[in-house]
Amino acid sequence: MRYQKIDSKLFVENRKRFVAQMKPNSIAIFHANDMMMRNGDTHFVYRQNSDLFYLSGLDQEEVVLVLFPNCPKGKKFEEIIFTKQTNEHIAVWEGYKYTKEDAAATSGVKSVYWLDEMDSTLNELILLADNIYVNTNENDRAVSDYATRDVRKAIELKHQYVGHNFLRSQSILKQLRMIKSSLELEVMQTACDITEKAFRQVLATTKPGMNEYEVEANVIHQFIANGATGHAYTPIVASGANACVLHYIANDQKLKDGDLMLMDFGAEYGNYAADLSRTIPTNGRFTDRQKAIYNAVLNVKNEAQQLLVPGNNLDAYHKEVGKIMTSELIGLGLLDKTAVEQMASEDIHLYKKYFMHGTSHHLGLDVHDLCHRYVEFEEGMVFTCEPGIYIPAENMGIRLEDDLVITSNGAKNLMANIPIEVEEIEDLMNQ
Ligand code: GLY
Ligand code: MN
Ligand code: MN
Repeated sequence: MRYQKIDSKLFVENRKRFVAQMKPNSIAIFHANDMMMRNGDTHFVYRQNSDLFYLSGLDQEEVVLVLFPNCPKGKKFEEIIFTKQTNEHIAVWEGYKYTKEDAAATSGVKSVYWLDEMDSTLNELILLADNIYVNTNENDRAVSDYATRDVRKAIELKHQYVGHNFLRSQSILKQLRMIKSSLELEVMQTACDITEKAFRQVLATTKPGMNEYEVEANVIHQFIANGATGHAYTPIVASGANACVLHYIANDQKLKDGDLMLMDFGAEYGNYAADLSRTIPTNGRFTDRQKAIYNAVLNVKNEAQQLLVPGNNLDAYHKEVGKIMTSELIGLGLLDKTAVEQMASEDIHLYKKYFMHGTSHHLGLDVHDLCHRYVEFEEGMVFTCEPGIYIPAENMGIRLEDDLVITSNGAKNLMANIPIEVEEIEDLMNQ
């Protein structure tokens, strides 16, 4: 792996917390992600299933994790991994694959078997259980008509074991994955630090006349050179009015002198995501108007992150940030105070014309991390804070985004060292 070995204690603890919430007499089954076809006979770069990784640390295709607390067949069967047996052909064509010993050391699971033993073992175990936990993707913003390996296998199980009771692993994982442990925070900090290196490189190299994709190239260079697997999500490098297209990923336009450039990128390290947005002037100097709008966004961000405290919740938080943004937009002359008040009484929020997305989302193994949206904020949750103002008529969009952990004394910024003040950005671009 490109990342430093993660202490297996993390995965041991995660499994403990998961099984503590399983119903008695239950078995849970987790499958690795598929190798996804790209075109012809080639595949996309492999990305492990986030839940399987969370519970095992195993980062290889065709791995299955089975959990059966208090299994009547014996302790040895309470936690099992099945993995593909390597051979000379695989060694020559693909290289290293887990040995049983390595899979055990990585995950902390003692019982590791080759996959060809799975069907018979699993059948016996399932017949000893009343409930089967299956793992489906319950990210409530996920849109896909592709059935994951987990889903396909769950459908097969449902055909085969019609008398069993099926339960959802994700209703447990949703609660667990929202709270990050100190080991997870260390890995996330590394993802943020690598992202910082890339942004500093961008500050040192960006000039009018370059193409947006040259900026993207500087980012990926730093990511790979510093041990990241790559981008945690498709990066945005959007100059001028392109920044007003929220999911702009073409990154193929020339940087014009006098324009701003909005970037949204984050390294993936050890399968954990960083998520950064910064907006800089292509020529290294903000105009007065750009600076005024930039500082309005920065004010909103600084105030919003004060609200990332235990006991708050996403709904109340977003309403409050809407008010802060509204007041900045009135200050900039973009909204009229009387009109704002009139429309608010009809539950219409005029700020949404300029700021049309949410301010924060959970971050972790997934960039929009698995979460329960309607629970109170707790210590250990990691959120982004990413207000923006988008004005196509003025040829600019500005977003500023950091990643923060909720603690008992306010939010701790994992990106505190990444330049954000106008003066810092201008200084670094003009050295
Ligand atoms: N980069 C995705 C987001 O900011 O939500
Ligand atoms: Mn982002
Ligand atoms: Mn984000």
